[in-house]
Amino acid sequence: MKNILSPSILSADFGYLKDEIEKTEKAGAEYLHFDVMDGLFVPSISFGMPVLEAVSKYTKQVLDVHLMIQEPIRYIETFQKAGADIITVHYEACEDLKATIQKIKDCGAKVGVSIKPKTDVSVIEEFLDDMDMLLIMTVEPGFGGQSFIPESIGRIKEARAIMEKRGRQIDIQVDGGIYLHNIEEVLAAGANVIVAGSAVFKGDASKNVEDFMKVLDK
Ligand code: DX5
Ligand code: ZN
Repeated sequence: MKNILSPSILSADFGYLKDEIEKTEKAGAEYLHFDVMDGLFVPSISFGMPVLEAVSKYTKQVLDVHLMIQEPIRYIETFQKAGADIITVHYEACEDLKATIQKIKDCGAKVGVSIKPKTDVSVIEEFLDDMDMLLIMTVEPGFGGQSFIPESIGRIKEARAIMEKRGRQIDIQVDGGIYLHNIEEVLAAGANVIVAGSAVFKGDASKNVEDFMKVLDK
């Protein structure tokens, strides 16, 4: 399974968003992670469709949209039209996850499902056949810059084992507190799509992405 870096623009300098994104694209990050927060599912509010639409006009990166919003089914089509290539919804935020997944498929985007750190990994099993990516949150969703929860390693391994049992291996994305010092551990556990916010955008984004790519391309 291919290793991919998905820099989270939540930690970027929004005054220079275009430059920041261009640096990550040039340095080899194939995805761009876009954290949408509604102040309800998570305490904070970030940004939404108009920003995504603007960004989609100047980058060729895969737009990896992480919806931290209650009942995301209401906005799937709008996000897809605004440029989302992958739409990830939270298991905990959907009254009818099956219908939400179907809506994502119908509009032609790839399906991601995310689980918070305290949600049983086994809940995803019945949805696996219709998913392209599982996002295992490695911090409580809501803010950038938090510390990686060590128990996440066991959860990644558990997810890979469930996939093995079902005969369906899909991408496993990890999000929250990922840095160069713990990336090898999450890769070894079975994750292959790496979200990094602070580790990419604090300091020199080009150099940071290059350093990540050296480990991911090994
Ligand atoms: C947290 C977001 C993350 C966040 C990660 O709720 O989903 O994508 O930007 O930031 P870092 O890498 O700084 O933990
Ligand atoms: Zn995220």
